[in-house]
Parts: sequence; structure tokens; C-alpha cells
Amino acid sequence: MSSWQSPSNIALIKYWGKREQQLPQNASLSITLNNAVTRTRVKLLPGKLNNSGLELDFKLSGERNPAFAERLSTFLDSLKGTFPFLLGAMLEIQSENSFPHSAGIASSASAMSALALCLCDLEQQLEGTQNYQDDFFKKASVIARLGSGSASRSVFGGFTVWGKHTHVSGSSDEYAVPLPFEPHEIFHHIKNTILIVDASQKKVSSSVGHHLMNGHPFAEARFKQAESNLSLLLDAIKSGNWDDFSRITENEALSLHAMMMSSNPGYMLMHPNTLVVLDKLKHFREKSKVKICFTLDAGPNIHLLYPESETEAVKPFLSDVKDYCVNPAMIDDQIGYGPINLQTQANET
Ligand code: DP6
Repeated sequence: MSSWQSPSNIALIKYWGKREQQLPQNASLSITLNNAVTRTRVKLLPGKLNNSGLELDFKLSGERNPAFAERLSTFLDSLKGTFPFLLGAMLEIQSENSFPHSAGIASSASAMSALALCLCDLEQQLEGTQNYQDDFFKKASVIARLGSGSASRSVFGGFTVWGKHTHVSGSSDEYAVPLPFEPHEIFHHIKNTILIVDASQKKVSSSVGHHLMNGHPFAEARFKQAESNLSLLLDAIKSGNWDDFSRITENEALSLHAMMMSSNPGYMLMHPNTLVVLDKLKHFREKSKVKICFTLDAGPNIHLLYPESETEAVKPFLSDVKDYCVNPAMIDDQIGYGPINLQTQANET
């Protein structure tokens, strides 16, 4: 049995476009969150004899979820070469998310990374080793990536980079790595407040969006832009230059949505209230000089980012935009420390 808690993450430099085997077209950088987590428990039970198939008993928050169970089954089937113990096995997987299902928060990063950590852990248990060193997390990141690209970054805390980039030593398209330097103290406890302007199911999935980057007329320019934005953002994170950080982060968010709008077919995931709130943010910032910026995921909700020291100063803005949000209106989060082995934690207490 293995049980891990793994967080969600929010990308500042966006992964948008992929090649074979879930490899990214450009390197991305994210902040691992603290409160938005998935807790997953995997029990490996002996399956039926002479059967190389895999039986899955999956529950999310105690209930069956056929759509996600099917995605997991396909994913697990594809991993039988890597984890021979899956051949003919019966897996009981129980997951729960800390964030409300209706909040419009993507759960695949936390869900797939938690599952990947459990699988790597089970492999070690069967081999008689339990060694949670760098190689363990590197492998978990590879497996998580195969489940969902952005999940590769959730295996580490803090700022994380996935994808080969000349300015990040040890970076790879196959797995994520933690930032190879200490961020400036202004970013140590960076806050992420998510304004939920629309909680309905996405009209176009990220997988479809990635696919639409194949043959996109702006694709090559976008991949170059991401490459150079990542270099600039690394400098800003190192030196503590909030204005550069803010400018690049917002440029990435808007470029992501611009790619969606200019795809063929084009589509829009922003809600009218996304624009209203972004406009209000611009005015609030100009007037107050508060250090605050936004990013957007592949959806309508707004991820506000600000140093912890601005928490009080941001409050008037949050109450001003509350009426443009649904219920729950806001989710409060911040940079986090990465996954937790729940079994080890339970044994220690
Ligand atoms: C906009 O990781 O969800 O959030 O690899 O197909 O599962 P798949 O896609 P996914 O795409 C995430 C896209 C993004 C940007 C990012 O997280 O970097």
C-alpha cells in the first residue's frame, strides 16, 4: 500500500504544445501550491491468475468517477512495461481533492503526480528498498508527465522547471527539476488567490488545445517567446525584480489565451467577467502601487500573485471584485513545499 499527498501547481511560463510521448515544445516554470492537493492511496491486490490485464477499482471522494477511471485505466495500461507488477494486478485507488470539485481548478496535475508517487513507491516496496532520494522524485516526475504534462512539475515544491532550457542546469524534457538557485526573498512566500469567475466544465480540454498548436501559424514564434520569457523570469526571480516578474507572467497568460483564440478552430476560455476583473486589477494597481499581478490557466479564473507582505493591501481589491465571482468566490493559496508521503507521516505520529 502506498499513500501520497501531492499539490497542484500554477504555471507562470506556460507549456502549450507538445510532441510525441508528452514532451513539451518549450520549457515551462510553475509555482507548486500549498493548499490545493490530491491525497491518493493505492492498494496492490493480487489479480486473477493468467490474466495480464489490469483491474481498477477507483473512487474519488468515496464515489465512483467513470470518466476519470477510464483515463487512469488507459494511463496504467501504458505503464505495464515500466512497472511489471501492474501485469494482471488489481489496483484499488482512492483519491480525494482538498479543493471543491466545482471550483474549476484543474486537478490532473495533483492527481497524476500523487498516483505517480504511489506507483514509484510501490515499486520500491516490492524491491525491498524505500529510498526517497533524488532518483525517486525524478522517476515520479517522468511517470507523472506521462499522465499529464503539468503533473511533472508537482513532484517538487517551490518554483519548478520542466523542459530543457539552457539557463537551467539539469533541466530535461523528460522530467521537471526544482529551481537551481534560491529565489529572492520577495518570492519566498508568494501568495496565489484564485478568483473563481466561472466554475463550469471547460468547453475545450487542454489536450485538444495542445493538439491545435500543431500547424498553428504562430507556433514557432510562441515557443521562442516562451524560451526567452523563461530566461527573463529566472533573472527576475533571482534578483527580486517584481515589475519584470509581473510583466513577464502576465505576458505569458495573455499569450496562452491568444494562442487559443488564433487556433483553427479558434476558441475563447475567458469569461466576460475575466476581462472586467483584469481591467479592475489594472486600475487598482496603477492607483495603489500594490505589488500584484495575474496569471490565467487554460480557463476563465484569475490567479492573483503577490508577495505575502502585500496581503493586507490586496484586501480592498478582493472585496471590490467579489461580486464578479461565483461560489466559492475565492480560493486562498500560496507557494508550497511539494508532496508528502502520508504513510511515513502516519508512522511518525
Ligand atoms: C495551460 O498538463 O493539462 O495549464 O499534458 O495534455 O495533460 P496534458 O496537458 P496539461 O496542460 C497544461 C496547460 C496549462 C499550462 C501549464 O500548466 O504549463
